[in-house]
Amino acid sequence: MHFLITAGPTREPIDPVRYISNHSSGKMGYALAEAALAAGHEVTLISGPVSLTPPEKATFLSVETAQEMFDAVASQIAKAEVAIFCAAVADYRVAEQADEKIKKSSDTLTLDLVKNPDILGSARGAFGFNGFLVGFAAETTDVEKHAIGKLEKKGCDLLVANDVSRSDIGFDHQENEVIAFHRDGRKTPLPRALKSEIGRELIRLIEASI
Ligand code: C5P
Repeated sequence: MHFLITAGPTREPIDPVRYISNHSSGKMGYALAEAALAAGHEVTLISGPVSLTPPEKATFLSVETAQEMFDAVASQIAKAEVAIFCAAVADYRVAEQADEKIKKSSDTLTLDLVKNPDILGSARGAFGFNGFLVGFAAETTDVEKHAIGKLEKKGCDLLVANDVSRSDIGFDHQENEVIAFHRDGRKTPLPRALKSEIGRELIRLIEASI
């Protein structure tokens, strides 16, 4: 099967030297790409800026902003049977990027932010994707409630939730602990393990669900 996987953060420029981003390391998405390849699948990996080496056998597209990630997914998703949206996409970007470095001339500075396109939320509608759709949810409170809400709203087959309020797992860590919520109401907890192992288990779970 062909897997499309998004990974890493996006980077939203403020001016030529500054940007808005988040702590995503890309490790979970890259682990999923490695695991899918190891299981004999084809992989298109669309990644924001991270310090990881993409798997050699993947088709690799490097992007910076949410809009670039949206465009890359739009151009690649038709060939995928499975799409996993693991990227930590910035929800907002600066309304007007400054052409020159902003000077520190005043005591306060207000940035106007506008919403970025919802890539996962466009899969079923704008992209017309009929394959197996996997979303991620990074939550700090009411993990289960938000995860199930996201699964339904975005038309996912599987929603993988992790609790990012914990400092020992998740963002920028080697290990993760997640709960996979299925469309039919089942849930599969994956206890704390290396992201490489969680990646392998998630690929097995996806294969078993198709
Ligand atoms: O940020 P949030 O927890 O809402 O992300 C949920 C899911 O939606 C994740 O799978 C993420 O990759 C995806 N997402 C996206 N485009 C956005 C925001 C989130 O694809 N603009």
